[in-house]
Formats: sequence, C-alpha cells, structure tokens
Amino acid sequence: MERLIFATGNEGKMREIRDILADTYPEILSMKEAGIRTEVAEDGKTYEENALIKARAVAAQAGELVLADDSGLEIDWLGKEPGVYSARYLGEDTSYRIKNADLIRRLEGVPEEERTARFVCAIAAVLPDGRELTVRATIEGRIGYEEKGENGFGYDPIFYVPELGKTTAELTEAEKNLVSHRGKALRLMKEELAKL
Ligand code: IMP
Repeated sequence: MERLIFATGNEGKMREIRDILADTYPEILSMKEAGIRTEVAEDGKTYEENALIKARAVAAQAGELVLADDSGLEIDWLGKEPGVYSARYLGEDTSYRIKNADLIRRLEGVPEEERTARFVCAIAAVLPDGRELTVRATIEGRIGYEEKGENGFGYDPIFYVPELGKTTAELTEAEKNLVSHRGKALRLMKEELAKL
C-alpha cells in the first residue's frame, strides 16, 4: 500500500502527517483531496472510539487505507477535563483565548506540582480488508499561569512542558512534532502498519 487517506480537513495536521509518513506512503490525501465528504457525530466515549468512527465512515466510501485521529487535553485537577470534549469545551465556536482563560481560572491557587496535564492522541487505521488498528500516545506537561507563545493552536499556549522550559506554543512546528502526542502516535502507527 503506497497510498492512504487521512480523515481530516485540518491543514496543520496534514503537514505533520506528510512529514512523518511520506517516506512510506508517497501519496497521502486529505478527505477533501480524495473527494470524500462525511459528517460523523464524534460521540464516542474514548479517543480510540472517536478515531475509529471517523476512519470507518471514510473507509466505507474510500475502499483503501484510511487513518483518522482524535485528541484532547486532560487536566488531572479537573478530573481529566476537558478530555474527549476538548474541541467542544465551552462551545465549539468559543475562542481559545476564552477557553484557556477559563481553565487557568479554574486552576487558580492550585500549586505547580498539582497542575499536571497531558495531551492525548489516538490514531485509528481501517484497512481495505476491514482490519482495524488503534494506537495512543501522550505528552506530559503542566497548565501554566498565563498564555505563552504564538505557535501551534488550541490549548498550546497554556501547556507547559517542564523538560523543555516552554509551552508547546513556543515550539516550532518541527520541534513540536518530535515530542507531541500526535507525532508520537503517528510514528507508532507507522511501526504497526509496517508489521502487517
Ligand atoms: P481533534 O482531535 O481534532 O478532535 O481535536 C481535539 C481538540 O483537542 C482540539 O480542538 C484542541 O482543542 C485540543 N488539542 C488536541 N491536540 C492539541 C495540540 O496539539 N495543541 C493544542 N490543543 C490540542
């Protein structure tokens, strides 16, 4: 298999995916490039379920290898919120300025060592013969006291990685891909697919 479809419309994700998988899969298409449109309800309870829901919906139309991901931010102090609801936290159309400010407010007075959090990413693959695979990876960090950094997206400005002394919004795209949940999950999936 030299070609795969990644079930996303996000250009940033497509760049990261191509960066990591291009040596094995010379042709990597987004859903749009493959001419596929689906509206699926991401109503799974886990990242793996949501990734599978997306991958299956596209695979049903594509008949070739399809990958999909689902990710989120887990904050331990908040019982792992916003979790699988990360994109929908405070509403899908609410700006991340507001979402991030709200999370910082909810952690007011919480000491450094209890501000632990992680980004989680699950990737699902559906093969043309119907076989399914999932992998999961994380990056551990802490919720900061204010937004920092202009790169990345979403919750990156409040996600501080102690080992790097920076938030993930202060990393370049290439630096983030080396350590991120999605980068790690993509490399894991590449290994799993190579075993088939
Ligand atoms: P999805 O995987 O595209 O459904 O995205 C889930 C949500 O999790 C995103 O909309 C962000 O809110 C959050 N998220 C996932 N990965 C990251 C990341 O690398 N940086 C910042 N926020 C992220």
